[in-house]
Amino acid sequence: MALTPERLRDALRAVRFPGFNRDIVRLGMVTDLAIEGGTVRVHLRPGTDKPEVLRQLAADVERVLGAEPGVGKVEIRLASEGRGKDPFAERAALPGVGHVVAVASAKGGVGKSTVAVNLALALARLGRVGLLDADVYGPSLPIMFGTAERPHATAAKRIQPVERHGIRLISMGFFLDEQSPVIWRGPLVMGIVRQFLRDVDWGPTDYLVVDLPPGTGDAQLTLVQQVPVTGAVIVTTPQDVALLDVGRTMAMFAQVSTPVLGVVENMSGYVCPQCGTEDPVFGRGGADALAERFGVPLMARIPLVPEVREGGDRGHPIVVATPDHPVSMQFRGLAERVAAEVARLGVVPAGASA
Ligand SMILES: Nc1ncnc2c1ncn2[C@@H]1O[C@H](COP(=O)(O)OP(=O)(O)O)[C@@H](O)[C@H]1O
Ligand SMILES: [Mg+2]
Repeated sequence: MALTPERLRDALRAVRFPGFNRDIVRLGMVTDLAIEGGTVRVHLRPGTDKPEVLRQLAADVERVLGAEPGVGKVEIRLASEGRGKDPFAERAALPGVGHVVAVASAKGGVGKSTVAVNLALALARLGRVGLLDADVYGPSLPIMFGTAERPHATAAKRIQPVERHGIRLISMGFFLDEQSPVIWRGPLVMGIVRQFLRDVDWGPTDYLVVDLPPGTGDAQLTLVQQVPVTGAVIVTTPQDVALLDVGRTMAMFAQVSTPVLGVVENMSGYVCPQCGTEDPVFGRGGADALAERFGVPLMARIPLVPEVREGGDRGHPIVVATPDHPVSMQFRGLAERVAAEVARLGVVPAGASA
């Protein structure tokens, strides 16, 4: 097979941007590739100047290209300028939005949306709140808020968020007519998340909570590329496997210099409604160990209680449905910790390097 730029570009699809589940070709980071005899010159524009990320990228590119038949020498230039598009070039603060707080998890079903919704509602006591459902495959907000209201657009093509319980909401679920499974391709996901950030009238908002889908994919990347995220809250169950994956999620945020505010352990025990005793269904102490390993605080521990699920299914999240429930108090404590933490961190200057 002839040594062509196309073939080598294709080979580079095996190189992922460190921490993310996406390759550098798809992310537009390979800006130039030239072959001269057995020497390959690659220009990369990784949109970051973190030395460990650059080192890792260079090593991966060298390894992948070096393994291609006919390639002798690999020369890599890491550019902060170049012909290609800087993947972080669009990053700018959202007008009128104080802090963007991401709620993330490694796995689905750990209660990320439940935490995002109740955190957002608890934060509403401390400021103006928006809640962006970035899980376009499995939007949760219509059910959790019991509304299918369609957001309307203004003449200027701006989207007005839906208002419920004093907070502003946007979700792909508000734009779909039925709850049939949706298959969006990666670029579409990125486009939707981008629109939900940029084309929705969020301001004035003190806290924009973003409910991310599980994992380290397109929505996560779009978020950090588009806006300065003040920090992320990571939701996990106490199980060991969940905790292992959480390490990956933490690494992803570290790669793009987004502080992890802390960990929320959800379903951290079952409180027997009859006798009040707590049974650690999924084990215990895992999130403590995790928080310690990564040097981030354990911000809340939410037990498995039927009222949480019922509230979510009926459109009345526990924080508003039963404000004096011990779990609601946990969520208010979480909101206070998050607010204190983001105030301490301040706003990441728009356009700051990743
Ligand atoms: N602490 C909890 N107690 C009881 N049920 C919970 C709790 N947290 C989440 N659930 C339920 O578990 C299911 C999954 O939660 P969800 O927030 O949708 O997870 P994710 O967004 O991570 O996929 C939902 O039915 C939700 O009501
Ligand atoms: Mg969810």
